[in-house]
Amino acid sequence: MSQSLVHSTVLLNEAVDALQIKPDGIYVDGTFGRGGHSRLILEKLGAQGRLIALDKDPMAIAEARGISDARFQIVHCGFERLSEVLVELGIDKVDGVLLDLGVSSPQLDDAQRGFSFRFDAPLDMRMDTSRGETAAQWLATVDEGLLAEVISNYGEERFARKIARALVTSRQGSPILTTRHLSEIVAQNVHSHEPGKNPATRTFQAIRIYINRELEELESVLPQCMGSLTIGGRMAVISFHSLEDRIVKRFMRDMAQGDKLPRNLPIRAADIPQAKLRLVGKAVHPSVQELKINPRARSAVLRVAEYTGGQHHGR
Ligand SMILES: C[S@@+](CC[C@H](N)C(=O)[O-])C[C@H]1O[C@@H](n2cnc3c(N)ncnc32)[C@H](O)[C@@H]1O
Repeated sequence: MSQSLVHSTVLLNEAVDALQIKPDGIYVDGTFGRGGHSRLILEKLGAQGRLIALDKDPMAIAEARGISDARFQIVHCGFERLSEVLVELGIDKVDGVLLDLGVSSPQLDDAQRGFSFRFDAPLDMRMDTSRGETAAQWLATVDEGLLAEVISNYGEERFARKIARALVTSRQGSPILTTRHLSEIVAQNVHSHEPGKNPATRTFQAIRIYINRELEELESVLPQCMGSLTIGGRMAVISFHSLEDRIVKRFMRDMAQGDKLPRNLPIRAADIPQAKLRLVGKAVHPSVQELKINPRARSAVLRVAEYTGGQHHGR
């Protein structure tokens, strides 16, 4: 692997420690990437332990195939298939699930993947290059209203309408096939300057999130993580922007909330349904030391929760 396509694992010890690895436990790394978290989990597992890793990206799968360890299995699929995969593997419950969301550095730094405005490359942006529509294909036909909505909602971009109008007008002349073409049109239509931030940052993030269905898949996997845990098992989720973190935070908070019964009900504490999750500590951010080595970790937030075995459904 070229040095520039290495991934610096974010919150490595914090996330793996949070799982409280039991030597003979079964764990899931739902986002293998380049395997930083997976390798540390394997180090902590004993001979009877097991680690199932998933990733959508064929390049991540190729890397994982290089790990020759009988305790380790890699599956090429989206983590929204977690429950199905566990059934297929004959696994009923697991002791912990880790999700390190978003894109890896190799995805961002490989010009050909088309994720970044730093290079001129075909506008692809798919994490799973074996299926689905590329960003260029989507931009060729998307309705202007939907495009504006995506850029506004997923990019939190003030100039979403203007950018969407400009993209639709421009594609009538020539299709938007490259990262450079896209970033130039966006830059011409963003009239604010955020220091240190390329004007195309928000639009690229928005299109990437949409193309890869990132938020839908996150919404779908969280209950599956919880449902697959043994009592005392933990889920640890690292997110990289506020849209993801909001989903994780709300899910964990809602599932950790006991019944809000009216006071003075003649009911014993033991009869009150217990919440399904217990929050473990507060949100964890990378240390100053980690940020010095890896500035890309700056927006990372780790949240951890433990399955209690309770039956309360949350709100
Ligand atoms: C931040 S990287 C993970 C890095 C990894 N923890 C490491 O230490 O190398 C995120 C990875 O998750 C994958 N990914 C993102 N969304 C996914 C999904 N819905 N299902 C499966 N993999 C996904 C990406 O392809 C990428 O390889």
